[in-house]
This record gives sequence, structure tokens and C-alpha cells, in this order.
Amino acid sequence: MAQRRGRFLDTLSGEAETPPPMWFMRQAGRYLPEYLKTRAEAGSFLDLCYTPELAAEVTLQPIRRYDLDAAILFADILLISQALGQGVRFVKGEGPRLEPLFDEALLSRLSLSAIHDTLGPVYETVRRVREALPEDKALIGFAGAPWTVATYMLAGRGVKDPSALRLYAYEHPESFDRLIAMLTEATADYLIRQVEAGADALQIFDSWASGLPEPFFERYCLKPAEEIARRVKARSDVPVITFPKGAGPLYEAVARSDAFDGVSIGTEIPPAWARERLSPHAVVQGGLDPLLVVRGGDAMFAAADRLLEAFAGAPYIFNLGHGFTPQTPPENVAALVRHVRGR
Ligand code: CP3
Repeated sequence: MAQRRGRFLDTLSGEAETPPPMWFMRQAGRYLPEYLKTRAEAGSFLDLCYTPELAAEVTLQPIRRYDLDAAILFADILLISQALGQGVRFVKGEGPRLEPLFDEALLSRLSLSAIHDTLGPVYETVRRVREALPEDKALIGFAGAPWTVATYMLAGRGVKDPSALRLYAYEHPESFDRLIAMLTEATADYLIRQVEAGADALQIFDSWASGLPEPFFERYCLKPAEEIARRVKARSDVPVITFPKGAGPLYEAVARSDAFDGVSIGTEIPPAWARERLSPHAVVQGGLDPLLVVRGGDAMFAAADRLLEAFAGAPYIFNLGHGFTPQTPPENVAALVRHVRGR
């Protein structure tokens, strides 16, 4: 495969660019009228994820609108659960619902054997997007980290506080270890297929990494993510960004790991701390409060400037500390892009 370049990939390989490359988590989504139109055409959110033509279209919508430096594959972190054999559906206005797994019998029904049959359409989406994207724009593939996906699989839904799941891990270490090992293997295979289909970089989302004791974090967040990145890198040279959202000071061990090229920071990480403790070891991405993009105007510009100043001279990828919410006005996003590019 020819080595593709562009500002996003150059930065991820350690070059400081001014202004920094930018993309946004949930850049495709309900805040965009064109997304709502395509989703209505697809019927449901999952149909949209599994229809390559439409998933490719929504992946490209924010690139057309804002000329961002990277597109992120349109899919969901819970497709892997479905591929392993656990029923998943999305209830409008409520979020994901899965068959609860607190049950050994169901855990033993999960299987790696046919995951690519379910996930095949995702690889086709990657191929279509890569073909349609200009050469200098990167396509980011992604997956959920095992711990975060496991919280949904065990609870059967999104939880506000995953502490019941931590207790499950303490009380049933054997079945929990089995689930994490299975997710690690499935996720590595899933990401390798995304790279083979044309993804230029990968991001691992560990959205529930907050509030974990250090040994738990190391065992169930850091190690599995490292294992996934190493397996991918044994097969390709794509850069990997990880996003252990809410990991606080444990971010430093993540940045120091040689498994990752980049770390994405949440809104709670002080930019100056990240510059001092993380930038020497990994490319930092993100940090902007998505709610300031709902607000827009000077408050949003000032927060963007704070990030740009903190990371001046270091390789940095401009992004949010979490995804856009549905009430984000698209014109605020456009103004933010102009502001960052115009500095
Ligand atoms: O633009 C992108 O960022 C790419 C696509 C993407 C989606 N989900 C589309 C989506 C990505 C990278 C994700 C990741 C994801 N999915 C995470 C990790 C990041 C995070 O937000 O913490 C998690 C935890 C999920 C699971 C998930 N998917 C939940 C809890 C929900 C319901 C809540 C919500 O925001 O509606 C989803 C649905 C979902 N995934 C939507 C989108 C655009 C909204 C679905 C719709 O159109 O109704």
C-alpha cells in the first residue's frame, strides 16, 4: 500500500503543524440536517451502519461541509457485540439495548467464528470512503475498547456509573477475563480488517475509563488496548490513537506506552498538564468542551485559543473532549473551523 500523507498523518507521526489538523468526534450525526435525511432513508441507526452506500455518505458529509483533515468511519462501538452473537438494538431517545450478559449461559454462546460476516458491510464502507476521499485526507477506523464495550454488554445498556460492573469483575474474575480476552481478540481482528480495507489510522474509544483504581485500569483498560494496538501493528504500520476518557493522571502511563501514537484527552484534562506530561511521549488530540460549541461565539474561540496556545510547537490534533451533542449548531462548527484555520 502506498504511504499516504496529509496534515493529520504527518502530525500523528510527530510533526508539529500550524494550525494543527482538525476533526471532531461525532462529526457525523444528528446535529447535521443531511445526516438526519440519510438516516431516515436508511430506516434505523443500525440499518445506516450496515448499509455501506449510506454509511459512506454520512462519513463524508462533515468533510464536504467543513473540509476537515480526517473522516471517521461511520459505525458504532457496539457492532462488535452484535458480531459476537449478542442482540443489540437502539431505542430512539434512549440509546442502546443489549441482551443482558450477567449470565454464564449467554457468555458461552458468544463466538468469534462469524464476526466478519456481520461486520463485512463495515469493511465495504471503509473501501468506499477511502476511494471517495481526497489523497491528503485521512480515514480513521475505530472500535470500542474491551472495558467500555464490556460495560454495555454486561449491563445491557449504557450506565451512568459502571461501578456495578467493576464489582462483577471483582466477583467473577474468570468469566470477566474471558469476556475481555474475547473482546480483545475480536477487536484486533476487526481493526486489522478495517486497515486492510483502507483505514489510514485507528482510534480506540475507552469512554468508561474514569474512576478506576490503577491496577484495574492497567489490567482491563491499558493492557487490552496495548494488546490490540500491538496485534494491529504486527500486520501494518497504521498509527493508533487511544481515548481512555476520564483516566486523569493515569493518562501518563498511557502516553508512555510504546503501543500508541496518540492519546485523546477529555474536557477535564488541563491542557498545560497534558503538554508537559503527555506531549513528550505521544501526540495529544482533543480537549475542547463540546458544549462550548453549542454555546459558540467568544467563549468557544477563547477555549480553542487556550488549547492552541498550550500545544503550540508540539504535534497536536485539534478535536473535542467528547462528541458533539445533537443540539450543536452546524454554523458554530463552521465558525470554529475558520477560527482555528485562520490563526
Ligand atoms: O462521527 C463519529 O464519531 C463516528 C461514528 C460513531 C458513532 N458512535 C455513531 C453514533 C462513533 C465513533 C461512535 C462511538 C461510540 N458509540 C461510543 C464511544 C464514544 C462515546 O460517545 O463515548 C459509545 C459509548 C457508543 C455507544 C452508543 N452509540 C451510544 C451510547 C449511543 C446512544 C447515545 C446517543 O448519542 O444517541 C449510540 C448511538 C450513536 N452512535 C449515534 C451516532 C451518530 C446516534 C444514533 C442516532 O442517529 O440516533
